[in-house]
Amino acid sequence: MDAATIKALYDRAVENQKRAYAPYSNFHVGAALMAEDGSIYDGANMENASFGATTCAERVALGTALFAGHRNFVALAVVGDHEETFPCGICRQALSEFTDGSMLVITAPDRVHRLDELLPFIFRLEHGAEE
Ligand code: THU
Repeated sequence: MDAATIKALYDRAVENQKRAYAPYSNFHVGAALMAEDGSIYDGANMENASFGATTCAERVALGTALFAGHRNFVALAVVGDHEETFPCGICRQALSEFTDGSMLVITAPDRVHRLDELLPFIFRLEHGAEE
């Protein structure tokens, strides 16, 4: 993926961070998820007074993209209030269903990881993205 595309996806996650609903943690996260056709889906964390009902930014974006019919994703950018924010374990597993592991996880324009580096030995059943 070229540097301009990586930067554009990162910038979109920065924009999406502004839409977080995070009154409990006050930690705002934005995500931008790119499908294999280049379309981009947005997310931000959505918290709840029942903390376990909170949804991370990554899974907000993933759900919207899946609903649109996509099943394979090439890159995710994630931005939080830390200098570098990584997807949590649940989000790594959720995303892993829809990539062969090569999905890029962009945490800064110059910091690009692969999902299977962040989550080796992915748990799978039969379904998910084609490999
Ligand atoms: N959060 C995300 O949105 N994505 C992550 O990968 C890590 C955590 C959110 C959940 C909660 O609203 C806040 O950050 C603090 O955990």
